[in-house]
Amino acid sequence: MKKLVVYFSATGVTEKVAEIIKKTVNSSIFEVTPEVPYKDSDLKWLNPLARCNKEKIGRKDVPIARNIDNMRDYGFIFLGFPIWYYNAPNIIYTFIKGHDFSEKKIALFATSDGSDIEKTAEKLKSVLGESAHIVGAKRFYESTSREVIAEWARQMLEQ
Ligand SMILES: Cc1cc2nc3c(=O)[nH]c(=O)nc-3n(C[C@H](O)[C@H](O)[C@H](O)COP(=O)(O)O)c2cc1C
Repeated sequence: MKKLVVYFSATGVTEKVAEIIKKTVNSSIFEVTPEVPYKDSDLKWLNPLARCNKEKIGRKDVPIARNIDNMRDYGFIFLGFPIWYYNAPNIIYTFIKGHDFSEKKIALFATSDGSDIEKTAEKLKSVLGESAHIVGAKRFYESTSREVIAEWARQMLEQ
């Protein structure tokens, strides 16, 4: 089964986790990027006028620079993102809507400063579709060791 790590990362923390998973499971990797890149001021999450807040409150789709053309080639997807407002960033929802996850196994991973991933995984489940099979969901911190991440990734492939 071909594997793919897909991730969005605004400040590089999730990206590091994604790279560790990629190396561990020997997969391809794809970065989800917005058409309009986030500036530092867009990420000031306590500022109601910042872009991140407007996207969340307005439930806005976030146009993506490039989609994955060959999704059908992959059977196992690791999908990663930072937790934003106790949820996945809107760009992840936009990404999911633009791709077909039927019959795929999916392992969700996130990084955050404290919030967990369980409720987010529940929300994503309905967007990913009935026949997508979420095999696990795990939140890591910036300080989580490479070994812990690698061990989790290996476990996911056995599900
Ligand atoms: C817009 C925004 C909202 C955030 N909301 C949360 C949150 O609800 N809970 C939390 O623990 N951390 C929150 N964070 C912190 C990030 O989840 C954390 O720093 C993450 O590791 C960043 O990953 P990245 O570098 O891959 O973007 C938020 C950060 C931003 C920019």
